[in-house]
Amino acid sequence: MNGIKDRLNRPLQDLRISVTDKCNFRCQYCMPADIFGPDFKFLPKTEILSFEEIERLASAFSKLGVTKLRITGGEPLLRKDVASLIGRLKKIPGIKDIGLTTNGVLLPKLAKDLVDAGLHRVNVSLDAIDDDIFKKINGRGVGSDVVLKGIEAALDAGLGVKVNMVVQKGVNESEVIPMARHFKNMGVTLRYIEFMDVGNSNGWDFSKVVTKKEMFAMLSDHFELEPVDPNYFGEVAKRYKHKHTETEVGFITSVSESFCSSCTRARISADGKFYTCLFASKGYDLRELVRTYKEEEPLINEISSIWNQRRDRYSDERTEESAKAKEKIEMSYIGG
Ligand code: GTP
Ligand code: 5AD
Ligand code: SF4
Ligand code: SF4
Repeated sequence: MNGIKDRLNRPLQDLRISVTDKCNFRCQYCMPADIFGPDFKFLPKTEILSFEEIERLASAFSKLGVTKLRITGGEPLLRKDVASLIGRLKKIPGIKDIGLTTNGVLLPKLAKDLVDAGLHRVNVSLDAIDDDIFKKINGRGVGSDVVLKGIEAALDAGLGVKVNMVVQKGVNESEVIPMARHFKNMGVTLRYIEFMDVGNSNGWDFSKVVTKKEMFAMLSDHFELEPVDPNYFGEVAKRYKHKHTETEVGFITSVSESFCSSCTRARISADGKFYTCLFASKGYDLRELVRTYKEEEPLINEISSIWNQRRDRYSDERTEESAKAKEKIEMSYIGG
């Protein structure tokens, strides 16, 4: 039963797996400290999927066409022994690419183990080089040097590295050029992400979004960028490279140029719910199934029937009103 399609004819190709809803940062746009404070109730351990359960789910997804896995959080490197999960996932037939999205703090400690276990790539979030700006954004007063050390450690260990920068008007627009300069010099891909209305707690509105068009205009005053063709159907970032180099710059334009028509991504939360869109309000419980049945067939049947019904295209349809009115899951719970 290979290669299932949803109602809008989109294949199931990627699976994003959240392994924890906790994080050591409190980025204002994701886990604002006033909401995710000391009393916030994170998922209890018993509700979180074990590595064996994640492996069985990923295996079922792979039978339906998934070739690409991404481990997310919260901060996935906080999950104990996450490298051993990578080792398990690596062995699943049909899985060609395993990535992980992280804030980078724990990479100096873990990069080597992750590579040895079979991880290919990391996407590291960094929103500013300037310390004052970055400390404020991450809500924990951590300097950019800490993340830069994580990036170095990942490169030294042989991981592919891309840097993610969420750009917010009036917060870190001033860092668009310094970040471009820094990562051009390092030969590392930098991707600018339009601030999105994920969840209901990050105070999003259109006026805080810096669009790709605006960022491109800023960059064009300093650099010459030329377009690069997508690597595969459904690639999230629009890619460019600095002329006369192989160093890339990307834009993730969920607000100004949505990409739902080629969205091939499924997501599972740390507690085993299957979400067919980043902006969904409701997930489908797979944990009960994975804990009840040892066989793969019931999982395959459930996943395929959910995907077959899928019609999500939230970013295509978003308006300022719908963005504010809709109840959505939080970014830290679903991992982006
Ligand atoms: P690769 O392209 O495989 O390197 O990964 P990625 O860019 O898909 O993953 P990453 O976790 O680095 O996400 C980068 C940004 O893209 C984050 O802000 C995600 O929330 C966003 N993103 C990823 N997939 C989707 C999607 O399907 N819809 C929307 N709206 N945003 C997405
Ligand atoms: N809008 C856009 N990107 C976001 N991220 C977290 N919250 C948002 C948001 N509201 C990014 C993180 C990380 C990736 C998983 O998603 O910075 O790089
Ligand atoms: Fe943590 Fe990433 Fe969310 Fe920041 S964006 S709070 S680093 S999960
Ligand atoms: Fe996919 Fe939903 Fe993002 Fe559209 S908004 S690209 S359907 S996850």
